[in-house]
Amino acid sequence: MKRLVTTALLMAAATAHAQKFDGLADTPQMGWNSWNKFGCDINEQLIRDTADAMVKNGMRDAGYRYVNIDDCWHGKRDENGNIQPDPQRFPSGIKALADYVHARGLKLGIYSDAGNTTCGHKPASRGREYQDARTYAAWGVDYLKYDWCDTEGLSAKGAYTTMRDALRAAGRPILFSMCEWGDNKPWEWAQDVSHSWRTTGDITACWDCELSHGSWTQFGVLNIMDKTAALRKYAGPGHWNDMDMLEVGNGLTPDEERAHFSIWAMMTSPLISGNDLRSMSAETLKILTNRNVIAVNQDKLGVQALRRIAQGDLEMWIKPLDGGDWAVMFLNRGERTLDYRHDWQKYALADDLSKHEADLKKTRFRWTDLWNGAGGDTAKPLDVKLKPHSVLMLRLKAQG
Ligand code: GLA
Repeated sequence: MKRLVTTALLMAAATAHAQKFDGLADTPQMGWNSWNKFGCDINEQLIRDTADAMVKNGMRDAGYRYVNIDDCWHGKRDENGNIQPDPQRFPSGIKALADYVHARGLKLGIYSDAGNTTCGHKPASRGREYQDARTYAAWGVDYLKYDWCDTEGLSAKGAYTTMRDALRAAGRPILFSMCEWGDNKPWEWAQDVSHSWRTTGDITACWDCELSHGSWTQFGVLNIMDKTAALRKYAGPGHWNDMDMLEVGNGLTPDEERAHFSIWAMMTSPLISGNDLRSMSAETLKILTNRNVIAVNQDKLGVQALRRIAQGDLEMWIKPLDGGDWAVMFLNRGERTLDYRHDWQKYALADDLSKHEADLKKTRFRWTDLWNGAGGDTAKPLDVKLKPHSVLMLRLKAQG
């Protein structure tokens, strides 16, 4: 009898869908990824130096956790089909790298793809999902970014669910980050599959542009913001709209960098830096480690911001925060300086989706400028002077 019950339970476990790992992304994940700056030009020394830099420059203490190796770490599969790292670039192996990163209080991420080959033409995981997931778990990997090149004929939902199940079966909690560029509307079906999904094609370090490369297109900061705005109802604790890795430190102006970082924070995107952490400017580091802005992104309500005002180049975005606070961001999309007087009383802070509301005629809030520390309160109109491509980002606190 006991044997029968055990067998029945085992069969049920094998046929039931596995669950993704809970609790790995209650707030958007934070870290670094090699792709935006280094492309395929990566090696184990770069990963070690990046982990050291994150500790030394204060990024770890500001909340950045994952050190993510993107495409091109791969060598060949061995005679048993086990994937091996490139022996020239990663001679010590991924396990040693994971140990190195873990010893510094950080976590290691890796990259694969649902098709036969990755976007960089390396061996990918199609048909090898369970084997690769076991390998990553045995290496001590904590994060998998899973791409969508070379997947002709595959169902995205099927392929990503297979890898989700494979990770679960391998047993090590690994954050699962989907990267299929929004092609199959993952926000509609991936809530139980992954911890985040990319909403667009790849980012590039520009404010407002679309760069077409024939079969694929890259997008600037505003383009990704606009495409992701409509998806706010799909984001929340454990399942985020991923607006792609940050381009802070990769050639935008300081105003644009502050705006880019503020927008990603307001929109609860994962904050994965994509620059060279060994050599960035003090100004870029200050942006990446602005704890007040990070706190807006990491707020535990996990509500993606709402566009409250859109008048030509001027926009106002609002985001309800835990404990009755609000984050408010004024944005100048355009090329001319904007002078605008905001009458708080005229615009209630209201979000139908999350059911948060504050009537500023009745409740007085104190605001703090999260970039320069200035303060004021909502009894008086706010004079907003915005340089081109810049934001004013505030945190509002109710006065008792
Ligand atoms: C795709 C992804 C990028 C990066 C590259 C690697 O383009 O969207 O983020 O991972 O592949 O080849």
